[in-house]
Amino acid sequence: MTSETRSSPSVAAGARDRVLIFDTTMRDGEQSPGASMTIAEKIELAALLEDMRVDIIEAGFPAASDGDFECVRAIAAQSRDVTICGLARAGLADIDRCGEAVRAARRPRIHTFISTSPVHMKHKLRMGENAVLEAIGASVAHARNLVDDVEWSPEDATRTEFDFLCKAIDVAINAGARTINIPDTVGYSHPAEYGALIRRLIETIPNADKVIWSTHCHNDLGLAVANSLAGVIGGARQIECAINGLGERAGNAALEEVVMGLRVRADSLPFETGVDPSKLARASRMVSQITGFPVQYNKAIVGKNAFAHESGIHQDGMLKNAQTYEIMNPEDVGVASTSLVMGKLSGRNAFRDKLKALGYELDQEALNDAFRRFKDLADKKKHVFDDDIIALVDDQMAGAEERMALKRLRVVAGTEGPQEAELTLSIAGVESTALATGNGPVDAVFNAIRKLAPHEAVLELYQVMAVTQGTDAQATVLVRLSEGGLVASGKAADPDTLVASARAYVHALNRLEVRRAKRTGG
Ligand code: KIV
Ligand code: ZN
Repeated sequence: MTSETRSSPSVAAGARDRVLIFDTTMRDGEQSPGASMTIAEKIELAALLEDMRVDIIEAGFPAASDGDFECVRAIAAQSRDVTICGLARAGLADIDRCGEAVRAARRPRIHTFISTSPVHMKHKLRMGENAVLEAIGASVAHARNLVDDVEWSPEDATRTEFDFLCKAIDVAINAGARTINIPDTVGYSHPAEYGALIRRLIETIPNADKVIWSTHCHNDLGLAVANSLAGVIGGARQIECAINGLGERAGNAALEEVVMGLRVRADSLPFETGVDPSKLARASRMVSQITGFPVQYNKAIVGKNAFAHESGIHQDGMLKNAQTYEIMNPEDVGVASTSLVMGKLSGRNAFRDKLKALGYELDQEALNDAFRRFKDLADKKKHVFDDDIIALVDDQMAGAEERMALKRLRVVAGTEGPQEAELTLSIAGVESTALATGNGPVDAVFNAIRKLAPHEAVLELYQVMAVTQGTDAQATVLVRLSEGGLVASGKAADPDTLVASARAYVHALNRLEVRRAKRTGG
């Protein structure tokens, strides 16, 4: 057994083809309702993706807003070896904006697209085939004047008539596209069909060997990862995917699943990626924290239960030999196999080592802050588990540099109403306090926040989850607010559920404020 996977690869490493991993968490992923990210969050995520050695980061859609443009530009400026890509529609102004945003990258790429399916051309573009072919030639050629590395996508390719798809791709290749991406935009295809489509395109198009073929599969039928792998078997050498499968509607192919699928089944899939899988768990947590979208417990690779064994038969098998029920090592994807319990006697060095094992590298100031919070937690809670530390550090990172912060909270709860909350917020450095009653303590807390920071947002979701087991467990609270089509989520953890609730609400309000500013171009 290798330390990499629990299977025994039978394909020699040298015989494997390299598959490029193109991450679109910050572009397609951010397009899912409520998932938009701040510039600071995107910069942090991009740094982690580059450390993880993804090949291409699609950092945004620069023409969409000034905020998006700035994000892509900032990520391009901080990038080292990774290719930084921006998305652009076929219009020349979009492409110019995109070219400007990615220019600072060492390896800039423009990804331009236009729809080619009958339904999109007729109802969305209101353009005929000839006009679409003309736009493809002009847009790709224009992008090639700005950068060498141009990717082109026929949107809704899997519902496009095959002969027209070939014509469109031919135009794009002749105009200078280096990567041809075949989006299953509406997640309609299935693996045999999608794999065959890629193969047939490669066999039919004259200059197919001059470009890299790419998959971009949506998950509307739950087939995005299977379709992407089928595409690779059919000849694609780039997979577009997103952490946690984030993306429009049901999402994109999950990056962690395609990477581990290729790795664990290297015995029959002769391909390799350059991704360091030990950072997958950390990336998953970061994206969940940033977006406020929880990762489902039974999610492949990064779900809380992905390596948990509860039934007696399975536990017995695992104790005898882990290969009985595990096809990969949890450590390979950055999940510590044992949760070493820490407590109030644990020292700073042990704490720093633990953070490192969990994939966090904090600067001195953040480490001091996290250690202080860990000690506070250990005073309240007998055993501090890995999940407690993860919740604590993620919570600290989420709250850093926010305009509004919870300072103090006192709540009167119980059978004798009215329930009451006295709450102090710091808003742009100025502290103020309000007293409010409510229909229960949580309502009282939220009413107090509303008094101090008046807003129209509607509470869409309020969810409490225990981080670990036991009555002294920390609570993680998730709050989702919506206002005029904008959605923002906030997440916070604390042993006191009401404190976590207040902080999650304030966190969501901060994010809503960022979103409002982004919409108005501020
Ligand atoms: O799903 C899709 O078609 C897209 C394109 C812009 C590549 O996201
Ligand atoms: Zn897409």
